[in-house]
Amino acid sequence: MKASAIAHSNIALCKYWGKRNEELILPFNANISMTLNKFFTHTTLEFDKKYDKDILVINDKEYANETKEYKLYVGRFLRVVRERVNTDLYARIVSNNNFPLAAGLASSASGFAALAIAVNEIFNLSLDKNGLSILARQGSGSAARSIHGGFVEWLKGENENGEDSYAKQVFDENYWPEFRMIACITSTEEKKYKSRPSMQMSVETSPYFKQWAEGSDEDVQKVKQGLREKDFTLVGTTAEHSCMKMNGVMWTTKPAIIYQNQTTIELMHAIMQWREEGLESYYTMDAGPQVKILCLEKDVDVLVEKLSKFDGVEKVVVNKPGYDAKVVSEHLF
Ligand code: PMV
Repeated sequence: MKASAIAHSNIALCKYWGKRNEELILPFNANISMTLNKFFTHTTLEFDKKYDKDILVINDKEYANETKEYKLYVGRFLRVVRERVNTDLYARIVSNNNFPLAAGLASSASGFAALAIAVNEIFNLSLDKNGLSILARQGSGSAARSIHGGFVEWLKGENENGEDSYAKQVFDENYWPEFRMIACITSTEEKKYKSRPSMQMSVETSPYFKQWAEGSDEDVQKVKQGLREKDFTLVGTTAEHSCMKMNGVMWTTKPAIIYQNQTTIELMHAIMQWREEGLESYYTMDAGPQVKILCLEKDVDVLVEKLSKFDGVEKVVVNKPGYDAKVVSEHLF
């Protein structure tokens, strides 16, 4: 009853922020992402009667069952799994990320996508991609998208049971080989505000939440059109605007949710300035202070040179569109 899987993280071009159903993790708005080739999670999962409680180890650190990582996320997901496969066995999970955990680089996306793949394997569920995405979604919303490589849309769905809220691939990882997303790490500290409770606070208190949710579907259509026509300007401007609208909602939540640090803000200014000078790139940010920069291959070298010597930038990682989540034979224990 042991299986291992690898899943890549993803970064949204049009963001998801806010659930219409917290239990099933159903979003208010559709959203679209790119899966990253460089950042991934490798997870081994085992269910066995030798365990008298769940054991969770991420990047060599054990998380007790009282921690919020376990209670809010993994423990909750394991409950969903146990109910579904009708078992009362406990599990051991060992997971390695090759990037900082919980710092706004979508570790929960790759983590829960890998877990869903492993659950499917262990219990012979024979889920198709939609079913895998629905299962991953119940761990963390953005994980629904990490089942697929390339460019991925998470359909918000209409049904209250969530069966039509899954992610599907829009274009695979080979479709636009010149497309890049440069991750600039400005801090490796874990974020102050977890996205799950934070987005719920936004739903309840931001006066702009309704407009945010209503406008997002149109942004997804624009990004899809930009991808279809390989119109980088349309994809970039729409992605940057979606990120700023999400941040408008975050900043106007009570109390305010501010993920940016000083370097984040300085990078935003720099990117806009470079763009005025003819270097076309766009920024996006998530639930953390890292800045992800969209650009084309032709501008990567110039950007990396500028970013590597930018004050406060700790690390620069150039990503291409990455791959589907999959079962692997290498176990971590
Ligand atoms: O599913 P979560 O809890 O990882 O939420 C992700 C929310 C953002 O990263 C901020 C936006 C997104 O669409 O990925």
